[in-house]
Amino acid sequence: MKENYNEILSENSIIPTKRMKLRKFTIEDADAVYEYGSDEETLKYLTWNGISDREAAKKVIIDFYSNDGVYALELNDTKQCIGCIDLRIDEDHEKASFGYVLNRSYWDHGYMTEALTAIFELSFRKLNLNRVEATHYIGNEGSGKVMKKCGMRKEGLAIQEFKIKGVFHDVVHYGVTKEQWSGFRIRN
Ligand SMILES: CC(C)(COP(=O)(O)OP(=O)(O)OC[C@H]1O[C@@H](n2cnc3c(N)ncnc32)[C@H](O)[C@@H]1OP(=O)(O)O)[C@@H](O)C(=O)NCCC(=O)NCCS
Repeated sequence: MKENYNEILSENSIIPTKRMKLRKFTIEDADAVYEYGSDEETLKYLTWNGISDREAAKKVIIDFYSNDGVYALELNDTKQCIGCIDLRIDEDHEKASFGYVLNRSYWDHGYMTEALTAIFELSFRKLNLNRVEATHYIGNEGSGKVMKKCGMRKEGLAIQEFKIKGVFHDVVHYGVTKEQWSGFRIRN
């Protein structure tokens, strides 16, 4: 049965995890968004071209980050916003995809695995979606590792699927159904 996705998302605008709080962005996060949105290394495998000043960061927050389903990752210890994860629901097919980005100073500490795990709890337990899917470019294997650690399965490779910033990229497709994820949760 299809749920009222908008209602459930707005009821879940704050999601606590072990070390973080997933919450809505505010304009006060502009410096944090600027920090990761202006870092070349962070942008390398994103379709997003990034931003070159704090005003642009504010515009990103107002234009793109104010929707339900877009979460700032706030560290409990420092209250710093260290990244973003956003869930994009496709109502017709009762599925969702997502995107994520983390400030480079915080890479490789398990933060995105923790955030994505919370997003799967939301997707399957609360939104009752049937499937969650995502892609990453060849070369960005760290992203694939996060997906796999959260229970997603590699489903295929599309050769030169996207032309980004002038370069054709091979794209790895990952997905997980509610049934597969439930089994994964039991095993882990
Ligand atoms: C991809 C990204 C979100 C990963 O976040 P993260 O918090 O560093 O990931 P985690 O710490 O949860 O890592 C999970 C696993 O992936 C591994 N990993 C993370 N980044 C890696 C990298 N660049 N290369 C190889 N492995 C990597 C970790 O070592 C960990 O493996 P382990 O459990 O065996 O130790 C982060 O690197 C990022 O923001 N990159 C830039 C934006 C981006 O590419 N977004 C994804 C677009 S598809």
